[in-house]
Amino acid sequence: MTKYVLIGFMGAGKTTIGKKLASLKQLPFYDMDEVIVEQAGCPVSDYFDLYGESAFRKLEVEVLQRLLSKKEEAIISTGGGTVMPPEAQQLLAHSDVYVLWLNTPFDVLCHRLEQDEVQRPLFVNSTPESFFNLYEKRLPTYRKLSDQELDINQQQKILSQK
Ligand code: S3P
Repeated sequence: MTKYVLIGFMGAGKTTIGKKLASLKQLPFYDMDEVIVEQAGCPVSDYFDLYGESAFRKLEVEVLQRLLSKKEEAIISTGGGTVMPPEAQQLLAHSDVYVLWLNTPFDVLCHRLEQDEVQRPLFVNSTPESFFNLYEKRLPTYRKLSDQELDINQQQKILSQK
């Protein structure tokens, strides 16, 4: 029961590509941010304000564990920071999990984040420098965890499939 898990930085295109893959492969699709918003009953930015980032990370690990334990093949789109805690990385090390890293250039994802109406607390509360530092800090983890890397050209090819 393989789970295809999409990882990558905020704005990398995880939800868009995840939905497309789910429709191409005719599999259920779970967007972790959406599942969390539904479960928490408030937007992610409110959750950060109310309970802080570390509580959010714990919730992400719980949700990831729950989704991975479902007895079905599925596509799961993570949040950009979901895979940072070691507990989350251990969950992904399971043999039935296939990790796809959307490696999207920094300027592309910043442009998308500026246009997006969904507020990312770590984007809106950062300076351009500290946001770039966070991006660089996370890259080695995404690389290490991925079974397959999809660059922007490969992403475009997936999106153009019928
Ligand atoms: C975050 C990414 C967001 C969301 C939250 C924190 C992060 O998800 O989970 O704002 O730490 O990178 P997306 O990657 O879907 O934007």
